[in-house]
Amino acid sequence: PVSVTYRVSPTPAATARAGAQLFTEAAGKAAQSRGLARIAISGGTTPKTMFGLLADPAEPFLKQVPWDKLELYWVDERCVPPDNAESNYRMTKEALLSKVPLPAERVHRMEGELPPDVAAARYESTIRNTFKLEGAETPTFDLVLLGMGDDGHTASLFPHTEALNEMSHIVVPNHVPQKDTWRITLTWPVINQGREVAFLIEGTGKAQVLHDVFLGPYQPEVHPSQLIRPASGQLTLLLDSAAAAKLPAP
Ligand code: 6PG
Repeated sequence: PVSVTYRVSPTPAATARAGAQLFTEAAGKAAQSRGLARIAISGGTTPKTMFGLLADPAEPFLKQVPWDKLELYWVDERCVPPDNAESNYRMTKEALLSKVPLPAERVHRMEGELPPDVAAARYESTIRNTFKLEGAETPTFDLVLLGMGDDGHTASLFPHTEALNEMSHIVVPNHVPQKDTWRITLTWPVINQGREVAFLIEGTGKAQVLHDVFLGPYQPEVHPSQLIRPASGQLTLLLDSAAAAKLPAP
């Protein structure tokens, strides 16, 4: 059974702050206990404010994050070059990477400019090598920070797509017919293996889907976010009050 912790903040800015706090604490904890913090982040638009806070010299986070012990990964990427407006890497570079002391060799981006199957295979190798995995071992990220689409997708695990059935890979290409596009995504068993797994979600537009995912019937083909049931038994939801409007009070 998974226990879900809801943390509801009054505004999107306060939600972003809760995200920056979680990121900083998880990185600190991991660096202290294992000398390294491996964090997988999401794209989309929601994490941008949180990245801005992490990189802001007027905030405490920039000084608190152990940047010299951080290895950064993504949960998913769009199949576009890294300078494209749609690129999750590009957003992160502009909001965070260009402003913090994180060496390029510890920023592991998915290569959206390559054919999706090649990019997925290469990213799986990158993860195998940097985590020093052997045989059938799969990675345990210290923190997986997820977003959620208003259709219930998370990472690039979209409703009714092939990747929902993928159990044996770490990273897969995923054709998303409803968007007429390909994506590259971590698989859900790997996300669930994270030491900490959290959703950062804001806005009225997400209120209904949050209700359906957490209170509705279990239909992961329809709401892939329902596949996120961390092995740790703990799932954190960082929400603003608009997104949380249709959930019971925490
Ligand atoms: C992506 C994502 C995706 C995202 C949700 C929410 O590449 O699009 O990582 O899973 O988190 O679509 O996106 P918004 O934050 O833009 O609402």
